Amino acid sequence: MDDLKTGGIAVIDFGSQYTQLIARRIRELGVYSEVYAHESPAEHINRHQPAGYVLSGGPSSVYEADAPQLPPFLLKSERPILGICYGMQLLTAVLGGTVAAAREREYGPAIISHERRSPLFDGLKTEIQVWMSHGDRIEALPPGFSVLAQSDNSPLAAIGDMERRLYGLQFHPEVRHSPAGNAILGNFLFRICRCQPKWSAAAFIEDSVLRIREQVGEERVLLALSGGVDSAVAGALIHRAIGDRLTCIFVDHGMLRQGEAQEVVQVFRCDQGMKLIAVNAVEHFLAALTGVIEPEAKRKTIGRLFVETFSDEARKLQDIRFLAQGTIYPDVIESAADSATAKTIKSHHNVGGLPADLRFELVEPLRDLFKDEVRAIGEALGLPESIIWRQPFPGPGLAIRCLGALNWERLEKLRAADAIFTNELEAAGLLRAGTAQSFAVLLPVKSVGVMGDNRSYEEALVLRSVTTDDFMTADWARLPYELLARVSARIVNEVSGINRVAYDITSKPPGTIEWE
Ligand code: XMP
Repeated sequence: MDDLKTGGIAVIDFGSQYTQLIARRIRELGVYSEVYAHESPAEHINRHQPAGYVLSGGPSSVYEADAPQLPPFLLKSERPILGICYGMQLLTAVLGGTVAAAREREYGPAIISHERRSPLFDGLKTEIQVWMSHGDRIEALPPGFSVLAQSDNSPLAAIGDMERRLYGLQFHPEVRHSPAGNAILGNFLFRICRCQPKWSAAAFIEDSVLRIREQVGEERVLLALSGGVDSAVAGALIHRAIGDRLTCIFVDHGMLRQGEAQEVVQVFRCDQGMKLIAVNAVEHFLAALTGVIEPEAKRKTIGRLFVETFSDEARKLQDIRFLAQGTIYPDVIESAADSATAKTIKSHHNVGGLPADLRFELVEPLRDLFKDEVRAIGEALGLPESIIWRQPFPGPGLAIRCLGALNWERLEKLRAADAIFTNELEAAGLLRAGTAQSFAVLLPVKSVGVMGDNRSYEEALVLRSVTTDDFMTADWARLPYELLARVSARIVNEVSGINRVAYDITSKPPGTIEWE
């Protein structure tokens, strides 16, 4: 099979918040694309023989002393280049044009008109709406370049040297606010770079099955199944490749959502026919968490117990050489932001740090995929919607949503309230789209209320619902008041021990999505 990844697009990151989005859009168009830090060596950036390059935007100004530079081999390669915002300014500066600070920053929607002279705008109306976000602008074009589109504020909204196949856009085609953005990117891919649209769920599955078989041979693979979409899809894919030589371990630590443990067993063991060991470790986890209140201590305890429980089960199985993980592309993506030292805000846990006697080689079939691609693969593999569209759930589970003392009674209260919120969101069509993550948080705070003619003195619950693209920043979801009213009324009436419901209206930053 022709390598799925060759002849795609390398996206060079200069620090824009939209860089990953560029690669996602390109893949949506059926062409493989990867993000590379701008300092990456040529051999690395060229490892899949890209047909062209896209230069991302970024927060710097090209005339600053320490501004990120254009890797010189890009121009020498004579492959097509599309520079977006900072990328276009960089191209301009390197090729002999001039860039300067604009008198006013341009941010928001703009209408550009193009001259129908370049393949970049083939098939598009002459006037199109785009999204601008820039503080610098081009003052003089480099030799060989001409203006391809302009707006009122940006006389050089798009530029190009068609001979050398070098293009620049002052606006962001990758964001949804540029409705024609996909068509422009598509023109760059198919008319200018001559890419083949060969990246699809079906092609990926076919390719992965062969690769997994090649890597694993006749050996056996172990997978920690959490019920989340990534490990579920990794499991289904590996199962398709090697069948019963995959064994899954699912640890029920008692911090799961309502009905989750039962569903995992039903879907994977019964429906998918996968070999699944379900470990009930609820008592063990609860005993160890009694009296643990501090968030990091909770996280560390759960992480340690999880590794211990998983390791105990893994040791009982003989002759397993490989460990599968549902690592996805955003976990490994190399970007300009990653090269700066990032601070740990919360310690995340996964099946890292296994004891020395359990040495596995890793199988990570989803390492190159974005979340939406993982979902598409899950769908193509026949996993149910309830698993594929499940919202992200943290490893420590409800432990970090049950603030204060952890005990079964409080966890059950939280589970019941969370299920009501989830069901109402689903009924309103806001679970799969419209909110990225929605859940309930139980507070260790009691307040006075009145139920019938009686005074109540019970715990308070917070509803949290956010919208986000990448979970690095998030905004609180503007849920309809009627929905909030219904959820609140149902929780107070149906869940005993909760008499007050609040809605969290904190964005991230300064808040985080989870409360602990
Ligand atoms: P925060 O609270 O840091 O959360 O804004 C960002 C995203 O990460 C999830 N999260 C976790 N996921 N293990 C995980 O697998 C963890 O320990 C963990 N803590 C937070 C959180 O649910 C949100 O989607």
